[in-house]
Amino acid sequence: MQMNLDFHGRHVFVFGGTTGINFGIAQAFARQGAAVTVASRKQENVDNACRTLSDVGGPVHGACADVRDFDAVGRAFESAVGRFGPVDVLVSGAAGNFLCAARDMSSNGFRAVVDIDLVGTFHVLRQAHAHLRKPGAAVINITAPQSFVPMRYQVHACAAKAGVDQLTRVLALEWGGEGIRVNSISPGPIEGTEGFRKLMAPTPEDHAAARGHVPLQRFGSLDDISNLALFLASPYASYISGALIPCDGGGAIESVKPALEAASQAGL
Ligand code: HXC
Ligand code: NAP
Repeated sequence: MQMNLDFHGRHVFVFGGTTGINFGIAQAFARQGAAVTVASRKQENVDNACRTLSDVGGPVHGACADVRDFDAVGRAFESAVGRFGPVDVLVSGAAGNFLCAARDMSSNGFRAVVDIDLVGTFHVLRQAHAHLRKPGAAVINITAPQSFVPMRYQVHACAAKAGVDQLTRVLALEWGGEGIRVNSISPGPIEGTEGFRKLMAPTPEDHAAARGHVPLQRFGSLDDISNLALFLASPYASYISGALIPCDGGGAIESVKPALEAASQAGL
């Protein structure tokens, strides 16, 4: 079920918006009438996303850029703003991930994820700033429970996403005076996505166990995340900035439980 808000006449730019959760967000804004720009590395993903978005809603623009390339990110904004004018809503969600124990991770492997998730988010927000509508723009960074819950085999993503949440808070401070709101959404496990496939153990038994760890006893959907993005971008959220909002069925608070149980069993 999707929220109904009117984004006609608004320009929504979703970086990393060609697949998965971020594409779900782009589609939600397109359904509400926004002019939508999506950008990512692979031309094929950009083309597919633009085709689907055109069927769903209003005008669509696609740009091919790797968030690690500062100049390419800048060119993506210039082309989008040339087409639809200043950006009213920016969603920054490009990310990469894999499971790997810290002791086995190469320097390059650690750097790849930090470069995409953290440095890439900085590039996107830094290049966007000149093109954001002032006052009035809403920026939404897509982070993850890894930003505040330490997880095994996720040292790169934990470090990177924690950094992204601090970008959110610092830029909410610096840009608040220009009427720009900056928030983070932290999705829990969202079924049917690349992140879910990569990070969740594959057997039905593992899935049932993981679902059982979510207090609401279900995995999330694309609509769960896009409804929160629509709300955060809307006038109903006009006093929310610098917030890190989990949309995870309560999963992040539950995941501290095993540690607390272990401590209690150890008599601490
Ligand atoms: C160990 C690995 C590895 C793996 C790559 N590397 N995969 N190390 N285990 N499985 C290492 C490589 O060996 C290399 O180091 C370095 O990482 C860079 O790898 P490249 O393949 O050259 O990098 P690149 O082509 O830039 O690709 C980046 C990527 C890739 C992150 C590795 O997976 C990617 O592009 N992913 C985008 C899609 C994605 O992951 N989506 C999921 C997002 S989910 P060496 O030393 O060999 O040179 C998410 C959170 C979900 O973010 C949270 C769920 C709760
Ligand atoms: P996904 O489908 O792989 O989405 C990642 C997007 O980023 C794609 O559009 C990808 O397109 C783009 N991208 C990747 N590297 C890029 C780069 N270097 N430059 C530009 N674009 C790049 O993954 P997802 O699972 O939906 O995750 C989306 C977001 O949600 C991520 O920020 C992730 O950390 C977060 N998240 C996901 C989950 C989950 O359950 N899936 C949970 C918590 C948080 P190209 O390949 O074309 O570049």
